[in-house]
Amino acid sequence: MTSLYDTYGHRILFGGDYNPEQWPEEIWPDDIRLMAEAGVNSVTLGVFSWAALEPRPGAREFGWLDRLMDLMHDHRMSVVLATPTASPPPWMGARHPETLPRDENGQTVWYGSRQQFCASSPVYRRYAAALTEDLAARYAAHPALRMWHINNEYCTFCWCDETAGHFRRWLGARYGSLDALNEAWGTAFWSQRYDDWAEIIPPRRAQYMRNPGQMLDFRRFTSDALMECYLAERDIVSRHTPRVPVTTNFMPFWTGQDAWKWAEQEDVVSVDIYPDPADAWGAQYNAMIGDMTRSQARGPWMLMEQAAGPVNWRGVNHPKPRGLNRLWSLQSVAHGADAICYFQWRQSRQGAEKFHSAMLTHAGEQGRTYQEVKQLGAELGRLSEAVAGTDTPSDVAVLHDWESWWADQQDGRISTEVEYPDVVRAWHRALWEAGLTTDFAHPAHELGRYRLVVIPHLYLLTDAAIDNLVAYVRGGGTLVSGFHTGAADQDDRIRAGGMDVRLRELFGISTLQEWWPLDAGSTVECEGFRGTLWSEELEPGGAETVARYQEGELDGLPAVLRNGRAWYLSTLPEPGALRDLLARVAADAEARPVLTGLPAGVEAVRRGELLFLLHHGRQTVTVPVPGRHRDLLSGAAVEGSLELGRYGAAVLREDVR
Ligand code: GLA
Repeated sequence: MTSLYDTYGHRILFGGDYNPEQWPEEIWPDDIRLMAEAGVNSVTLGVFSWAALEPRPGAREFGWLDRLMDLMHDHRMSVVLATPTASPPPWMGARHPETLPRDENGQTVWYGSRQQFCASSPVYRRYAAALTEDLAARYAAHPALRMWHINNEYCTFCWCDETAGHFRRWLGARYGSLDALNEAWGTAFWSQRYDDWAEIIPPRRAQYMRNPGQMLDFRRFTSDALMECYLAERDIVSRHTPRVPVTTNFMPFWTGQDAWKWAEQEDVVSVDIYPDPADAWGAQYNAMIGDMTRSQARGPWMLMEQAAGPVNWRGVNHPKPRGLNRLWSLQSVAHGADAICYFQWRQSRQGAEKFHSAMLTHAGEQGRTYQEVKQLGAELGRLSEAVAGTDTPSDVAVLHDWESWWADQQDGRISTEVEYPDVVRAWHRALWEAGLTTDFAHPAHELGRYRLVVIPHLYLLTDAAIDNLVAYVRGGGTLVSGFHTGAADQDDRIRAGGMDVRLRELFGISTLQEWWPLDAGSTVECEGFRGTLWSEELEPGGAETVARYQEGELDGLPAVLRNGRAWYLSTLPEPGALRDLLARVAADAEARPVLTGLPAGVEAVRRGELLFLLHHGRQTVTVPVPGRHRDLLSGAAVEGSLELGRYGAAVLREDVR
């Protein structure tokens, strides 16, 4: 993997999507001036420019992009050049309706918005490849080109006939025979046995619950089909520019792409993060996505998009209060970002996103948003040298797997109250509140370097993952698992006994009698805390009971079990209780918080040789910091403690005089 550091040297990228085809060219010089004043050093061009580059089939209009690329270079701005293949022009849908996706009911998803392409369509792929080829050939040697950005937030699903054929080929490669497929999908139930490959279709709308194996494979297939589109374009641009890194921007923690697999195919891992300013835990969300992306990248990553103010796709779209854009940007840097970029540079006056904020809003250069962007640009410039390319170390890993998520969230499940991302978030929040910096990892990854590994909720675990977890604990690691773990194998087949026997041995559980989900909003009293969402009727077999249920049907039965270094939580403790429990286990495992004695709302993160202090509250606080430091943001010397005001931040380097 090429890191951002290799490509840019010690420099944090700062900038955003620049879509100047919306404006008369006379505005461009003004854009350049304001970008320069704000410290912008990178723009992403062409993300949605297909119709501008190819106004009719086969035509090429590169003149405007030539001028822009030159302009950027003349002003020492680097360009992240996008292939525009996320938004085919209307002519494609009009002339080739088979390129348009069909939904689960077989209805066409029309053009008139964006992202209306079927990943399995040969016609779409042919046009996308041809334009990518010409784009790459034309700009391969351009000095402004610094990175390729393929497509944008790959996210389409399609249930059309072309997809059906592609799905069958994918299944053929996975299973080799229809017998193996029938076995994996359990088609003996409900008379679903397939006798001919041609009978298999994507899981379209049906009379009642659809086959879970088919649904799970369709998700795997869709992620792979989209990745084929990505790889085809990546290979084209890489052939022209083998040394220019390639990325595609993920949506954060999005269900459609197995980002573990995708990240392996990227030189730079990038993501778009839009925490809700109205979410009291927005900072934790931002930290979580940063941690996840850094783990996918195995190092520094790129914040490809964020909003300087409000988005326009929530029900109620709140602006960012003064200081929050800066704070969350610095937080992303602390969590490993080497690039802080936005959607988009200048706010649109027309089109679907005219109420979405930008670095330069309708309020113009005197507006608060631009002024704050300018301040941030200057500050990032001051941090660049010390930060870019460095690691954010962590002793703790949160396990997460898309396949398990997909298998878990199906029709016919035990409780629709269990939302996989919410459970993961609850565990990350507990660790974050305990002051621990966390990585994310796949359950089959090498885990030996972590002192503590937690499993929020992995309903599906492969044999390899189970063996990996057992080996991790045998090797001296501490493992804490949430409920309903390891119930299913890779085909979503329930393991004998409801939990794999290797896991029952690991956690010291003899029998799992029943899963007892809780109703929405209800809790179950346990010794020392209240459980939420779920409970389990378990019989220990060697484990020590740490806490029991204290009411209801499970009264007196174990809620929390401990078998040496392996812990099992059969319910989701309320936030404070989960935080305290994990803090205790982490301390025993010698996984230490970055700093102790922090005032509420202050986050401390180490990155390289720097200590980031981020104040997510509004009241001024005094933060004890042992030793002598210098704050790279303010330049001030810090001895023993420092004050942070509303949304304040400091980036400290030890002062060794
Ligand atoms: C996504 C897209 C952008 C824009 C933003 C708005 O991240 O990639 O083009 O639509 O959302 O929040």
